[in-house]
Amino acid sequence: MKAKFITLFPELIQSYLKDALISKATAAGLLHFEVVNLRDFTDNKYKSVDDAPFGGGDGMLLRADILEKALKSVLDTEKNQTVIYFSPQGQVLTHEKVKAFASSAKDTEFVFICGRYAGIDQRFIDTYVDLEVSIGDYILSGGELAALVFTETVSRFIPGTLGNSISSDEDSFKDGLLEAPQFTRPQLWNELKVPEVLTSGDHGKIKTWKDEMSLKVTKEKRPDLLAKKGHK
Ligand SMILES: C[S@@+](CC[C@H](N)C(=O)[O-])C[C@H]1O[C@@H](n2cnc3c(N)ncnc32)[C@H](O)[C@@H]1O
Repeated sequence: MKAKFITLFPELIQSYLKDALISKATAAGLLHFEVVNLRDFTDNKYKSVDDAPFGGGDGMLLRADILEKALKSVLDTEKNQTVIYFSPQGQVLTHEKVKAFASSAKDTEFVFICGRYAGIDQRFIDTYVDLEVSIGDYILSGGELAALVFTETVSRFIPGTLGNSISSDEDSFKDGLLEAPQFTRPQLWNELKVPEVLTSGDHGKIKTWKDEMSLKVTKEKRPDLLAKKGHK
């Protein structure tokens, strides 16, 4: 996965990229990141990147001309690049979309535009943005956390990123269901026992139990997921 972040808060992104799994995968050459500070592309002495919206309205908007200069510094006609603007108006990220982004990652380099303040000039979106992506129906103060959510969840599907011992195959949302409850030592804690089947060593029975529990917890916690799969 290759991604370039255009942001007013490079330290926020860089600090996340030090995360153990991410930095290990980066060192192994599985992930490649570059962080670009939007403020480096201002041409005024106050280093401002925003201005008031025409027609009025709350807050300031990131200027299209400054975003364009920053974007042009990373655009490369030799490469297939996908410019993503993280926005509450974008398509909402889901497990299925994450997997699709992960499989497209080998053929494209992502360029992330992180908005701030009241958002960005629409003309920049219309001219340069391939895709608007939202991480949910609520408002963040900036696109950085959305870009990092995208990076973390997509990178989990890049082979090798999770290391050999962990797999994303058993997590919730695989097959559209939630994962079965999990237990670790001590086997008896506060008079609560681990379900016996899990310590039986019988892999067939354990699988059946996990499948049944997965269905049960999905029914209890997220019946909407079952409805999507056509269950009653
Ligand atoms: C305060 S928001 C601006 C919201 C904008 N005025 C609107 O109503 O559509 C500032 C920035 O945060 C980011 N952002 C906010 N909510 C988001 C979400 N749910 N998903 C992705 N990015 C979001 C966007 O980059 C946006 O430009």
